[in-house]
Amino acid sequence: MIRATIAGIMAGMALSGSALAGPDIVAHRGASHDAPENTLAAFKLAWQQGADAIEGDFHLSKDGRAVCVHDATTKRTAGNNLKVAESTLAELQKLDVGSWKAPKYAGERIPTLEDVLATVPAGKRIFIEIKCGREILPAVKKALLAGKLKPEQTVIICFKAEVIAAAKKLLPDRKALWLTSFRKTTDTWLPDAKSVLATLDRIKAGGVDCQAHKCVGKDFAQALRQAGKEFHVWTVDDPAVAKRFAQLGIDTITTNRPEFLRKQLEQNTPSGGK
Ligand code: G3P
Ligand code: CA
Repeated sequence: MIRATIAGIMAGMALSGSALAGPDIVAHRGASHDAPENTLAAFKLAWQQGADAIEGDFHLSKDGRAVCVHDATTKRTAGNNLKVAESTLAELQKLDVGSWKAPKYAGERIPTLEDVLATVPAGKRIFIEIKCGREILPAVKKALLAGKLKPEQTVIICFKAEVIAAAKKLLPDRKALWLTSFRKTTDTWLPDAKSVLATLDRIKAGGVDCQAHKCVGKDFAQALRQAGKEFHVWTVDDPAVAKRFAQLGIDTITTNRPEFLRKQLEQNTPSGGK
């Protein structure tokens, strides 16, 4: 009983503490409103725009490299329809993944995880989203160990709970978050906080990174905090939605527009946001 009360007080403190500090801003696929997603141009622009972290999507190439691309094929961003898992890094890097966004980005290439890690400045973070299965994890581990980033600068995220469980086994010192969206059942939205917490415990994840959905409110946030879990949200470009989540004490907000969203959040925050 006493333990529950203390947990409740601490949860309240955590909520108000985070709300005062303001959430970290994570650049979704880089500054992808302005530059082609998942390219070095987008990640460098995110840092110029003052992002606290970048988020990038990774698949495994045929020759065992973790490559930064959202879809399983290259059709949407390169025109040329290659299956990433059936293509070598050299084949993938022949493609232009910048022109579709704007002529000035012609010649942007699909970067490797190593390339993207190398852009992360001291004190900033990267959210590495695994888009394929656990087969990519040895390549991720190799890149992380070869790079200069400290463990606390890297976060592994994935919608597949079992991939997060495997990541925690292979890289126990790295933070890993489970990604989820929400689906409507007859009388409620799932997963609810109880089921999210059960999944996080089972896979040893440090928290949840969830879809910015109306079903996520105070009770959901409080349940996560009470359990000592982190609570993140994607992908928010609307300032009103961002402000609602900031008030819930969210840890990070992932957005395509890091500079714009930070300014919007700071406008109504006397302490200057962060
Ligand atoms: O940060 C999580 C978010 O990126 C998941 O959605 O489709 O943009 O990878 P997606
Ligand atoms: Ca993503």
